[in-house]
Amino acid sequence: MTLKGKKILLGLTGGVAAYKAAELARGLVKAGADVRVAMTKSATKFITPTTLQALTGQEVWTDLWDKRVPDAMGHIELSRDRDLIIVAPASANFMAKVAQGLADDLLSSLVLARRCPLLLAPAMNVEMWQSAATQRNAKTLAADGVLLAGPAAGDQACGETGMGRMLEPGQIVALVESGFQPKPLAGRKVLVTAGPTEEAIDPVRVITNSSSGKMGYAVARAAREAGASVMLVSGPVALAAPEGVKRVSVRSAAQMFDAVKANLNGCSVFISVAAVADFRPKQASKQKIKKGERQSMMLEMERNPDILAWVAAQKKAPFCVGFAAESENLARNAKEKRKKKGIPLLAANLAQEALGSDDNAITLYDDRGAHALGRGPKLEQARKLVAHVVSMLKKQEKR
Ligand code: CTP
Repeated sequence: MTLKGKKILLGLTGGVAAYKAAELARGLVKAGADVRVAMTKSATKFITPTTLQALTGQEVWTDLWDKRVPDAMGHIELSRDRDLIIVAPASANFMAKVAQGLADDLLSSLVLARRCPLLLAPAMNVEMWQSAATQRNAKTLAADGVLLAGPAAGDQACGETGMGRMLEPGQIVALVESGFQPKPLAGRKVLVTAGPTEEAIDPVRVITNSSSGKMGYAVARAAREAGASVMLVSGPVALAAPEGVKRVSVRSAAQMFDAVKANLNGCSVFISVAAVADFRPKQASKQKIKKGERQSMMLEMERNPDILAWVAAQKKAPFCVGFAAESENLARNAKEKRKKKGIPLLAANLAQEALGSDDNAITLYDDRGAHALGRGPKLEQARKLVAHVVSMLKKQEKR
């Protein structure tokens, strides 16, 4: 229930994507939010107020002159107690109205009279999105502090393909959840490594570690949610960079090391989640190695630099967090690893419990001992880890 107690006004404008707003309303309610819906007249041509009423359990508002609100003050009352207004889908016409400060119906009046943040999820035909006018309006809205979520690229209801699709309801719920997280890391820079590294044997073969990157990406997202400016140095994975996170993509441990060194300046926290290959082939063949007639082959390997240990040993080292995926003796190995690397905090888990999964069961080891985070989604675990880092940083800075 990440949105428990949050009061949201969900506005719908006219567009085919209005059907997705039903799922969005459901997702917000499921996350614990109190969702009040206001629809423009055009929106009611695409989806009925009854659907939204059933999904939110609340009356739906469509008319500026609605008799249910006393003193004809609906345009103010209905948004006064709200923590956030989301308009999804936001049509090109609606964006233009908000950019100009027009208020000629209930929803645009509520938006203009708001005291809370406004998030728009644009949805329109690709040409409408790319038009000079809409692009100008998007810039004006961003400069006014309006949050624009999307649009995304893809197939459109009109049969064309391109930018203009509304973000998926799940993505919008995730953005809203992130926005409501506390911001104790505001003004701080956090560097995160994630994913595996690939060490070349020849141009088509590599040695790598099993790692989906999900935990590292969740940590980057959690740090961003906590207000930090986040740089993610990522090995090859099939994941999109979390919203607002800068990503540098690398392949080998050596490249990861270089990228970490290049981005370390001014960092308060370094969280090393990457499954870095400990060894690399001593000599990568320039040409593809032919198997020929041989039945076996030897590969000479050399040690890769230990990125985390190097960072931790720097004079002005940031607060360093290591990760350890063990297959046995979790507590003993974790404690030893924390000491050996010279780091204040180590997050350990059993590899077989986490690999590729969306869940994890992390135990944190610091100078006070072990703290089990329980089992749960990686993002939840990442948020707990970041909260632990924040509390340790605070203590450190008090000294
Ligand atoms: N790490 C690193 N650079 C390396 C190897 C590991 O930065 N070359 C970091 C990982 O990102 C992780 C931690 O160190 O935070 C893991 O420690 P490590 O001892 O390398 O783990 P394993 O390779 O699993 O060690 P061992 O073989 O001793 O179990």
